[in-house]
Amino acid sequence: MSQTSVQELPSHVGEAVRVAGWLYNRRSKGKIQFLQIRDGTGIVQAVLGKNDVPESLFAQCDTLPYEASLTVEGTVRADARSPGGVELLVKDVIVHHAPAQEYPISKQEHGPDFLLSHRHLWLRSRKPHAILRIRDAVITAIRQFFDERGFICLDAPIFTPSVCEGTTNLFEVQYFDEKCYLTQSGQLYMEAGAMAFGKVYCFGPTFRAEKSKTRRHLTEFWMVEPEVAYATLDDIMDLAEDMLVAVVRHVLEHRGPELAVLERDRAKLECIQKPFPRMAYVDAVRMLREKGLPFQEGNDFGGPDETAISESFDRPVLIHRYPSAVKAFYMKRDPNDASRALCVDVLAPEGVGEIIGGGQREDDLEVLEARIAEHGLPREPFEWYLDLRRYGSVPHAGFGLGIERTVAWICGTEHVRECIPFPRMLYRIYP
Ligand code: 4AD
Ligand code: MG
Repeated sequence: MSQTSVQELPSHVGEAVRVAGWLYNRRSKGKIQFLQIRDGTGIVQAVLGKNDVPESLFAQCDTLPYEASLTVEGTVRADARSPGGVELLVKDVIVHHAPAQEYPISKQEHGPDFLLSHRHLWLRSRKPHAILRIRDAVITAIRQFFDERGFICLDAPIFTPSVCEGTTNLFEVQYFDEKCYLTQSGQLYMEAGAMAFGKVYCFGPTFRAEKSKTRRHLTEFWMVEPEVAYATLDDIMDLAEDMLVAVVRHVLEHRGPELAVLERDRAKLECIQKPFPRMAYVDAVRMLREKGLPFQEGNDFGGPDETAISESFDRPVLIHRYPSAVKAFYMKRDPNDASRALCVDVLAPEGVGEIIGGGQREDDLEVLEARIAEHGLPREPFEWYLDLRRYGSVPHAGFGLGIERTVAWICGTEHVRECIPFPRMLYRIYP
């Protein structure tokens, strides 16, 4: 008899199989017990008849605590009413471990603090399980997308000597006799990579000491950062658009049951098709004014502004050419208007807000030297970065996509903390 995952059961109807998992839920009707067994790939109902198993086993199963680990042997039967279309008629149950204490997460509601403190167990519950399986599909889709387009995956270091996204949210670390920072972004290294490989991306954890407690901020989050040599702002806007369409399509194709668990409205994802609306920052400002928001032109958008803009569209909107004063030192300025940066933020719909930030990079040595000085950054840690402008400098562009914010959008989840297995936030580093 072969061990089968719950996911594969529909192709084994009529066969005897073995499923190894945990007791998720149960109900009993006198002579029949219904055990819900989860194995990580799904949940199956195992039906245990009093006359089909030894009396002692029937009695043991009747008091088995939640999350007991067990192997069930039985025959797969088609059953249209069951979630996966099948159930298991049990012949035998082997209990591996029956918890002595009651499982802390019950089927009733718990507060977010309790659940986050039990994240190591909460992962087994339906909703986090569905969200993290969707996260996995998002990552697969992104890797496939870049692979098919000839990008090389090049990992960026996590310990870094230099700043990338401003000095206000750095995690400083003691690195032997010197100080360094946990990376805020792999971008600068991807720029070196693009000059060596043409098209590259990195995918890794990034760190921001965000002192704000918002639904969009983690202190440790995962970012995908493509960078392309000889590319302009327009090129990477097209790239971002194509990538998002591919990611959403992949999730719709491969994570239907998970979207159903989350009661996600599929129509909101099915409409994620090209072309995405594009607007200049000044037009986005005008839109906010028309909506009656007290926005000061020249500022960066705050969370509520992004929500207001993104609520107006049924698909992601690309906002380009922000004031260069509110953007990072490496952004190239618009040759037609030096007060604007050749940058883009992609705001996801349904009020989600920014999921991508990127743009064209300054490729002129002298201009870049001046920017580093203007931003009050020390020159020495950037010498290697300046070398990229000394030896065969070319126009180049790229962007960073925050995985958790993207997953939150696709899942229709309010808070990014549910979109990473073990969230790191202000005041939370356990478990
Ligand atoms: O807009 P950001 O700061 O851009 C960069 O870091 C660029 N260097 C990327 C590049 O061009 N290669 O961050 C990019 C994305 C944001 O749009 C957002 O999705 C996510 O990273 N992000 C966060 N996600 C969760 N928590 C935080 N604290 C985040 N900060 C940024
Ligand atoms: Mg940004």
